[in-house]
Amino acid sequence: MSYQTLLTDLSEGIFTITINRPDKLNALNKVVMDELNDVIDVIYKNDKIKSAIITGTGNKAFVAGADISEFQDLNKEQGMDMAKKGQDIFFKIENSPKPIIAAVNGFALGGGCELAMSCHFRIASENAKFGQPEVNLGLIPGYGGTQRLTQLIGKGRAIELLITANMIDTNTALQYGLVNYVVAQEELLNKAKSILKVINSKAPLAVASCIKCANVVGQEINNGGYGGYATELSEFGKCFNSNDVKEGISAFLEKRKADFKGN
Ligand code: COA
Repeated sequence: MSYQTLLTDLSEGIFTITINRPDKLNALNKVVMDELNDVIDVIYKNDKIKSAIITGTGNKAFVAGADISEFQDLNKEQGMDMAKKGQDIFFKIENSPKPIIAAVNGFALGGGCELAMSCHFRIASENAKFGQPEVNLGLIPGYGGTQRLTQLIGKGRAIELLITANMIDTNTALQYGLVNYVVAQEELLNKAKSILKVINSKAPLAVASCIKCANVVGQEINNGGYGGYATELSEFGKCFNSNDVKEGISAFLEKRKADFKGN
């Protein structure tokens, strides 16, 4: 198994996937997303893998979001296609019969927070920061973030984070129930592995069933998709019809403050 943007390691049944684009704070570009899609299939298929960890290279970022440079010039349909692909990959993580946990080693922003939330639970290092800053770009989360954040921390807190773009530290993330544990950076992977060793000693089919049952809470079918996620898809796509998204993305890439006009 060799990837351009991922490092992988399998030991004692625990498969560690490290997103490895440190110069771009591990941002999720097309290559990372394609490789994540492939590597999640490996988790499903490889009998030697009992459970998995997703983390990021370095001690600054888990994942600082989807790669903003790939958002330039997208139209509504392309925006929806991109979000659909991301939603599908993150569904595959969420619905994996083998536990996948996020070891959040730094910034988990935008798509990074969404990736962490698609995992079965989260452990963070003390320097981690969580947020959904998409409104700064004239966008909304498109990889399930509006739905999973609301499920995980409740509607009031989720809406506040979504519409302020505020980042939260690990004290708040712990208080909100977004993470299960906060540990020192150097202890992060050890902590994740020690929990997975316990889980790996349990009955795999029962473990898979627990995950499946927890995942169907609150889901409703709507227009052939899951209600909230279908809404998120079309709203994400619509953002690309706005001038604000062009302004927000250009401003980020040009390292200046955005001047939104609301159109
Ligand atoms: N997409 C593309 N590139 C990104 C990125 C993203 N989501 N996040 C960071 N990068 C790049 C930066 O452009 C920079 O690249 P450069 O060195 O070629 O200019 C590099 O990663 C380092 O980031 P930088 O912004 O210089 O680090 P910082 O310590 O000053 O700030 C953050 C860190 C996380 C606060 C800042 O990078 C940020 O706000 N990133 C975007 C977060 C976001 O909006 N995510 C949601 C996207 S939908």
